[in-house]
Amino acid sequence: MTDIDWDDLRQVATEAMHRAYVPYSHYRVGAAALVDDGRVVSGCNIENASYGVTLCAECTMVGDLFMSGGGRLVAFTCVNGDGQTIMPCGRCRQLLFEHASPGMLLETVSGIRTIDEVLPDAFGPRDLEDAR
Ligand code: THU
Repeated sequence: MTDIDWDDLRQVATEAMHRAYVPYSHYRVGAAALVDDGRVVSGCNIENASYGVTLCAECTMVGDLFMSGGGRLVAFTCVNGDGQTIMPCGRCRQLLFEHASPGMLLETVSGIRTIDEVLPDAFGPRDLEDAR
């Protein structure tokens, strides 16, 4: 699967962004990803009065991934309230790594990057398997 419709993915992320619940930061985020079976999943950030409990858009997107049948992420993008591409936060890069297909692509502020470029030498499931 090499042909990725980034415009479509960004559109889905933008639609998700409009559903964000952001009474504290007022900073909307929408995320969308192409799954290895061709599905597209999406999510928005959902904040909480206990700030640390906030769910990033990537978190709810991974929930959508599992609730709609699972699979591996092939391509990912996220946008802010202005529709601008933003970088996933550090915690969410780890979250994406866990569910990435090999060579997963991300639209970033510096162009299309692989998951390994945005989270080099990642700790992941293999480290736990190797230790068993
Ligand atoms: N946020 C995300 O949803 N994803 C990210 O990768 C970066 C940050 C949200 C969390 C919070 O609701 C708001 O952006 C401000 O940090």
